[in-house]
Amino acid sequence: MSGKILAVNNIEVVYEHVILVLKGVSLEVPKGEIVALLGANGAGKSTTLKAISNLLSAERGEVTKGSIIFDGEEVHARSPNELVRRGCIQVMEGRHCFAHLSVEENLLTGAFTRREGKAAIRRDVDLVYSYFPRLKERRGSTAGYISGGEQQMCAIGRALMSRPKMILLDEPSMGLAPVLVEQIFETVLAINQQGVTILLVEQNAAMALSIAGRGYVLETGRLPLEGGARELADNPEVRRAYLGEA
Ligand SMILES: Nc1ncnc2c1ncn2[C@@H]1O[C@H](COP(=O)(O)OP(=O)(O)OP(=O)(O)O)[C@@H](O)[C@H]1O
Ligand SMILES: [Mg+2]
Repeated sequence: MSGKILAVNNIEVVYEHVILVLKGVSLEVPKGEIVALLGANGAGKSTTLKAISNLLSAERGEVTKGSIIFDGEEVHARSPNELVRRGCIQVMEGRHCFAHLSVEENLLTGAFTRREGKAAIRRDVDLVYSYFPRLKERRGSTAGYISGGEQQMCAIGRALMSRPKMILLDEPSMGLAPVLVEQIFETVLAINQQGVTILLVEQNAAMALSIAGRGYVLETGRLPLEGGARELADNPEVRRAYLGEA
């Protein structure tokens, strides 16, 4: 049995010292798996990911209770850059790319924590192009002018350039046409099959549960449901709230 690479233990998160957003959230991600984190707008999904990658302080947020263990170590004492170096990287909601840089320059910025020579980094740029052939075609284009789907690919590709053990992926399907969503999910699955663990935040519950092994449902800062992906997809409450059933 593979061990867990991430454990979130009963965390509480407060913004601006007073706004309590997460109220005792716990979840586990086994090494090598895809785990889905579902929930409505404002439930606290992005907050959970930012707590894990230690990005909350940039938004005046703070973990005030509980602990988060990534790969055997508390994340609390680590800077976001150190976490990236240790193999934990977040792809933020909203396809963050450097708009003025080319696609390939964006990918190269993703290798900033690495100390290997150019050849290793070149190999990984090519690996990203093998996952996303479209990015290779657009390698010289300014990222600000490529399509939304291409920008999402660029953001995921940039994360891959850090050689992560685990990717925290926030809403990769947001705003994309169905055919592109399918492509992105297929690639996420392919990346996972190469050994990268994925914590996947999605509003597209059907898609997320189709590639995940397990899932959690977050409801205004609490986790009322967890289970196998199949089991959640069959759960009447999940079907009603997130799979569009009456
Ligand atoms: N920087 C912040 N300061 C104060 N409140 C915040 C901040 N960021 C988020 N919140 C609040 O925390 C709650 C959870 O937000 P979060 O972005 O984590 O939700 P989400 O589940 O990712 O939602 P969405 O599906 O819309 O992305 C919301 O009520 C939001 O208004
Ligand atoms: Mg969000």
